[in-house]
Amino acid sequence: MTSPDVSLLAHGLASRPGREWWRSAVIYQIYPRSFADANGDGIGDLRGIAAHLDDLLDLGVDAIWLSPFMTSPQKDAGYDVADYCDVDPLFGTLADFDELLAQAHGRGIRLIVDLVPNHSSDQHVWFQAALAAEPGSPERARYMFRDGKGANGEIAPNNWESVFGGPAWTRIVEADGTPGQWYLHLFDSSQPDFDWSNPEVWAEFRRILRFWLDRGVDGFRVDVAHGLVKAEGLPDYTPHPEGGSMGGDEADVPYWGQRGVHDVYRDWHKVLAEYDGDRALCAEAWLPTIEKTALWVRPDEMHQAFNFAYLETPWKETELKDVIDESLRDYAAIGAPSTWVLSNHDVVRHASRLALTAENPQGSGVGPRSAGQPIPELGLRRARAATALMLALPGSSYLYQGEELGLPEVIDLPDDARQDPTWFRTHGEKYGRDGCRVPLPWEASAPAYGFNDTGAAWLPQPAEWARFACEVQRGDDSSTLSMYRDALRARRAHGLGLGALEWLPAQADVLAFRNGEVTVLTNFGATPVEIPEGSEVLLSSEPLAGTAIPQDVTVWLVAAP
Ligand code: GLC
Ligand code: CA
Repeated sequence: MTSPDVSLLAHGLASRPGREWWRSAVIYQIYPRSFADANGDGIGDLRGIAAHLDDLLDLGVDAIWLSPFMTSPQKDAGYDVADYCDVDPLFGTLADFDELLAQAHGRGIRLIVDLVPNHSSDQHVWFQAALAAEPGSPERARYMFRDGKGANGEIAPNNWESVFGGPAWTRIVEADGTPGQWYLHLFDSSQPDFDWSNPEVWAEFRRILRFWLDRGVDGFRVDVAHGLVKAEGLPDYTPHPEGGSMGGDEADVPYWGQRGVHDVYRDWHKVLAEYDGDRALCAEAWLPTIEKTALWVRPDEMHQAFNFAYLETPWKETELKDVIDESLRDYAAIGAPSTWVLSNHDVVRHASRLALTAENPQGSGVGPRSAGQPIPELGLRRARAATALMLALPGSSYLYQGEELGLPEVIDLPDDARQDPTWFRTHGEKYGRDGCRVPLPWEASAPAYGFNDTGAAWLPQPAEWARFACEVQRGDDSSTLSMYRDALRARRAHGLGLGALEWLPAQADVLAFRNGEVTVLTNFGATPVEIPEGSEVLLSSEPLAGTAIPQDVTVWLVAAP
């Protein structure tokens, strides 16, 4: 670990106690189980995170987002919460959380936590009480219990399918042992959906928000923020086969983006506003258009919404230009920043995704038997260029742990190591998301590459990961880690996050724009682009050999002194 660069202490809350830090922040997603493991059981934990805060300070991020670490049976890696107001023993204790938060704040790094309001775990006391109670009881009314159809209630209440595959309904056995009602779960059967038409659910989530706000968190990433409210009468719905599981291309899906969901966030907005210090909500809402996603960040709702349209855009200059234009236009129209993102714990890492040789719908994953395997060198080169492009755009950006090391998707995980419910619910037809969740390599020759000191890892790390280790890259100016670090410093120094984009004329296959005093060029084509005279290279996504920008490289330029 390096010692903190004190010049950076000024970058975060220390220098911006004021308003709306989230408009330009670079927020680093930590997936706790795979970040760093302090007690050596093979699963990352809160103390492991605390031990690496100086690395994040050195990297130069403004904030971190922690994926769920609350009490959970871990059927969906913590997105199945049994107690929203406690820490799972796997990850530590509430005291460990408080210590981590204090340590982060002490370094000027803000911290937001994941909130999962669409569903709980089936081990949540409310769901257990619902199972023990009668049909029609107040306990059942907190979830979506319905009688089945057919003579004996043996047919599911409607035809909805789970995002992870298979039916979205499971039939229970009543307390007296007879086959009973069905409950809705848009995800795994261990993740029953709450009924958001029930005021008790609203009150409970206000309490949960306050619990974490009182501890001092800077905000929440809100899981499945387009779910929660379901259309009256739960009408049958058959998604378009090419629609994608989390949003689809269709206008009216009875469980995504229902109008009433916005009332929930207006309510939460008010709760956050009761607190000092500028707390923020970020929507995970997979919706078919940017225009629709922008509804989640109207002035009285959330503050950020992941720009998944951007994430899903292929490495093509015209398509990227269009999505950037559309994003800046649609978000600006309501006074919100765009929240750029290229990777997270649900998608194929962009160092692989950008060089897949076939389509890969989000959620399917890539495994050894997938058609269209990625080309690793090309993927990493494009990923670096894509990141350098993204970090030059005005707005906020999210980074996913390990992308700063250039980690690829792990393709050849053994079948028996896989843990994503998608893998099980589709009987291996979809690999799911384990390939982007493999524990991080910190050191080249330590057990588990320094993830812990016992060598245990909940998913096996590839043999060739020694070269990606943080320690190896730190001293190398041409490494991916150095590029991220340099980009974050230059981004801050030139105020790019709060800047404005102006396109510049460019030759075919090139994107060129100005953001303040910085000119950004990305070359997608085979013809090298000459660096304009009178400019100096501030950042390049690859080391440059001469005065030309080769294919799949982004450079940032400033006027030469
Ligand atoms: C979100 C999470 C994902 C999880 C799902 C269900 O999409 O990012 O990891 O499986 O919601 O909670
Ligand atoms: Ca551990």
